Amino acid sequence: MKKSSLIFRIPKLYSLGIRLLYFGACVRLKNMVGKDKKVFEPACGYGRIKKYLDPSCTYSGIDLNENFVNYGRKNGLDLKVGDILKKENYQESDIIILSDILHHLSVENIKKLVSIASKFAKEKVVIIEPIFVDVASGKNVFSKFLAKFFSWVDYDGINKIEKWFSRKDYDILFEELKQKNNFSKMNIAFFNHHYFIESYL
Ligand SMILES: C[S@@+](CC[C@H](N)C(=O)[O-])C[C@H]1O[C@@H](n2cnc3c(N)ncnc32)[C@H](O)[C@@H]1O
Repeated sequence: MKKSSLIFRIPKLYSLGIRLLYFGACVRLKNMVGKDKKVFEPACGYGRIKKYLDPSCTYSGIDLNENFVNYGRKNGLDLKVGDILKKENYQESDIIILSDILHHLSVENIKKLVSIASKFAKEKVVIIEPIFVDVASGKNVFSKFLAKFFSWVDYDGINKIEKWFSRKDYDILFEELKQKNNFSKMNIAFFNHHYFIESYL
């Protein structure tokens, strides 16, 4: 398999890049998740999301990037190496967070991931996705160039990014996920060019 891009090899570089992209938006997670919750994050990277949770919450995660998992473990986090598409790697939790992972997957695997997550989450599945990537979804030369550039920078060494979603694609996808997984309610919010979606069970 081709080597991942540099950001997925150097956790500190990933951290710097992601902080510039989110620009503080993740602070909202504290309210979305609440207190005393058991939180599980498939595709957790090195567990950067943990710092946005209330200290009363427990947090664990799985990821296939051993380098990231080891880095998070060294920082005291409960992370394991594991495939997010295998349900035996999941733990029943109050809240499951899927942060910055959907756009890495094929539509088929997105559906599989959210279906597994919705079976293991008791309260809700929180999805975070970048919106600004819609500039790479067009058919013009500039969009095609950006699509190639984003796919190169965001290559995690596991998934080849097949398509960049437009806002309309995301709207259709979220509605389909809501119907298929019987979410009772879906709150969709936008902060600093990212979707923050609370899908209630
Ligand atoms: C953009 S990072 C997001 C990391 C973290 N959720 C965050 O918000 O910082 C995507 C992560 O998904 C992981 N990943 C991709 N496919 C996976 C799979 N099938 N099983 C486990 N991890 C996977 C990659 O290793 C990478 O760490």
